[in-house]
Amino acid sequence: MAVQISPSILSADFARLADEADAVASVADWLHVDVMDNHFVPNLTLGLPVVKSLLKHASLPLDCHLMIEEPDRWAPQYAEAGARNVTIHAEAAHAPVRTLRAIRAAGARAGLGINPGTAIEPYEDLLPEVDMLLLMTVEPGFGGQSFLDMVLPKLRRTRELVARHGGSIWLQVDGGVSAETIERCAEAGADVFVAGSAVYDAGDPGAAVQALRQQAERATSRAPWSR
Ligand code: DX5
Ligand code: ZN
Repeated sequence: MAVQISPSILSADFARLADEADAVASVADWLHVDVMDNHFVPNLTLGLPVVKSLLKHASLPLDCHLMIEEPDRWAPQYAEAGARNVTIHAEAAHAPVRTLRAIRAAGARAGLGINPGTAIEPYEDLLPEVDMLLLMTVEPGFGGQSFLDMVLPKLRRTRELVARHGGSIWLQVDGGVSAETIERCAEAGADVFVAGSAVYDAGDPGAAVQALRQQAERATSRAPWSR
C-alpha cells in the first residue's frame, strides 16, 4: 500500500475551512476531520453540520475521526452524509460490529481507533469488519502534543496482525506525526499518516505535506514489513 497523508484540520483556521482544505487539495490523499464532543475527550470541535458544509467545498475525501461517546448512534450519519472514511473508537463503541457494518453499508470505509493505553490484541476478531486501524500516538483531544514512542511496539505488533489477516487493512497513526517522527512510524508499519500542526503550522502547508510524504516513502522502502 502506498503512503497516504491525511492533514488534520484541527490545526487549521476554523473560520476559513474551505481555504485551508484547498491549501492541501492537490498534494494530500485525505482531509482528516477531528470530531470531539467534550465527553470522550476534554475538548469540543465540530459535528455533522460542519462536516456536511465541508463536503460541499472540499475536493479531498473526508477522513472523519469520531472522538465521541455513543459513536454507535452518530457514526452511520457521517457515512450517509458522504464522509469516505469514518473511524470510531474501540473504547467508546458498545456495538462495534453493528456500527462498523453500518458505516460500510453507507458506502464509507470503516475505521477503528485505538488509544495509546489500549491493547490491540482484544480486537483481532473485529479485523474482518475493519478497513483501517487508527493508532493514537498521543492521548486524543488536542493537536500539537508530543509523539508517544511507547506506541511503536504496538504499531509493529499491529502490522504483523494485519499481515496475518491478509494485509489489506490500512494502518493510520495520529498525533505528534512530524518530520521528526514520521520515519519511525513508517518503519514500524504505518501507511496512513495524520498530521495537524506539522502541516497547518508550517508556512506552506502543501510543501509540508510533500516533504512528509517523501520522508515516509523513504522510510517505508527500507522497512522490513514492506518487503
Ligand atoms: C488529536 C487528533 C489529531 C490531531 C493531531 O486528538 O486526533 O488528529 O489533529 O494533531 P498533531 O498532528 O498536531 O498532533
Ligand atoms: Zn484525529
